[in-house]
Order: sequence, then structure tokens, then C-alpha cells
Amino acid sequence: MKGIILAGGNGTRLYPLTKAVSKQLMPIYDKPMVYYPLATLIEAGIHEILIITTPQDLPLYQRLLGNGSRIGCSFSYIEQAEPNGLAQAFILGEEFINNEPVALILGDNLFYGTRFIDQLKKHASLDGGMIFASKVCDPQRYGIVQFDSNKKVIDIEEKPTHPKSSFAVPGIYFYDNTVVEKAKKLRPSKRGELEITDLNRLYMVEERLQVEVLDHGTAWLDTGTIESLMEASQFVQVIQSRQGVLVGAIEAAAYHSGSIDQEQLRHLAEEFKGNVYGDYLKSLISN
Ligand code: G1P
Repeated sequence: MKGIILAGGNGTRLYPLTKAVSKQLMPIYDKPMVYYPLATLIEAGIHEILIITTPQDLPLYQRLLGNGSRIGCSFSYIEQAEPNGLAQAFILGEEFINNEPVALILGDNLFYGTRFIDQLKKHASLDGGMIFASKVCDPQRYGIVQFDSNKKVIDIEEKPTHPKSSFAVPGIYFYDNTVVEKAKKLRPSKRGELEITDLNRLYMVEERLQVEVLDHGTAWLDTGTIESLMEASQFVQVIQSRQGVLVGAIEAAAYHSGSIDQEQLRHLAEEFKGNVYGDYLKSLISN
């Protein structure tokens, strides 16, 4: 399965913070934001990844992440010239996807939990589409899904004024290879975007949209507001200092998922010699 990270948009809600630098490069505690969704994909065994971002930010992502070979992955890059919506990722990524199933993760969504990674691994090959659902207090801010006791999706709406359920759809989606042709059928919404929710509706009408509820052991944090950005940093800091793990360390994710071996990890730890990040990578080897 291939993976796409969407790290576009103007980040205007976080201005002036994001006026000069891409939102998904903002620090979440001790790492750039994009590390977290990237580590999620890698940990789930998805090693061929396309990063979609704005023309002005693309060189920064390339400088940060390179071609992925240092961690046994392959990273490629494509520009999204205008913020035309999440579903445009599949049109821009058509050649990259090349008749394979694909996972899309938003560059500003952070997931934490080992069971969540197991849930993701189950969907490496799937027929149809797969979304997750997570209970939230502010459903007006998200895509909202309604489903019955058999997990049959009944309705899915983008930021409804009167939400029919409090289950939000987090920013990670799995699709079979009909996704490209479906994305091409979409028309811009009122806010002028190709909506991921409209794409999911196409799978829903075909009765090929599955939903899985995130369990209580999984944290999903979004970073759409200054407050949630701050909370995400605090969350990572608390987990790391209490559990002695680094959340979102892409080299560790690569090691755990088998894309690099001990020797390669030792080499990478040397790059960060003398700092906590390097010490952590080294500690994984002796364990
Ligand atoms: C997007 C999607 C929405 C989803 C959310 C998750 O919203 O449109 O369906 O629930 O991401 O973060 P955005 O915040 O980009 O407007």
C-alpha cells in the first residue's frame, strides 16, 4: 500500500505563526508536526510515500526529509498550487498511486496508540474505502459520520451546523484503487474545495465504506487552532517524559517496521550525536 501526506493549505487560522513557514513544519514539542503522521504511516508498514505541499514550502520538506532512503523509505513530492481540497490529493497523485490501494493522512493530524497501528495494518489491502470515527465535543468542526450497530455508514457530512452524531472522521483514510476515478468525479463544494467527505459519500452510496471506531487507548489530536497546537505539544511532552519513548520519531518507526536494521539505526543515531533524540535512537539498539 502507498501513502500520501497532505501538507498544503495556507494555515491562515494560525497567522502570524504560519505566515512565513508551513503549518505542518511547526514544532509539536520537539519535532516538526509532519513527523507524527509520517511516523504513523511508516510504523504501519507504508514506506512509499508522496508528500503534497505548496510550491513555496516544497523545498523545505525536501530539505527536512530528503528522498527517504536514509530510513529505508521512498519519499516523493508534488505541489498543490492552490488549496483546492483534500480529495485533490488523489488527482495530483494519480501517477504515484498507479493502481494500488492508498492511505491518505493529513499532515496536521497526530495519532498515538499501539493498537491504532495494529488497526491500520489490517487494512493494507482492502476493497472499498475505510474511515475511522472518534467521539468529540465539537462535532461542527469536523467531517461527521453516522452509522448503525453493524457499523454500516448511514450518513457522512462535512462540518454540519446540526450534527446528527458526535463521531468525527479523523484525518486518515484508506482507499482501494478506484479512488482516483472517484476523485475526478467530484465538484468543488461551497467553500470551493474537493471535499474528502464527498469522496467518502461516493464509497458510501456503493455500500463500500467501512468505519472503525478508535478505541479509548488511541489519542487523536488535531492542530487546527492555537489551543490545540499547544495541547498537542503538552501531550507529547507528558507521554515522552512519563513513558521514556519518543512519539513521532521517524527513524524509530522505520526500525520497528523493518525498513532499516540495527546497523542503519546506529548510523542514524550518530547524526544526532550529543542530543536526546540521538540518545533515544541509540537506546533502541541496546534494548
Ligand atoms: C478536514 C476534513 C474533515 C476532517 C478533518 C480532520 O477538515 O475536511 O472532514 O474531519 O480534516 O482533521 P479541515 O480541518 O481540513 O477543514
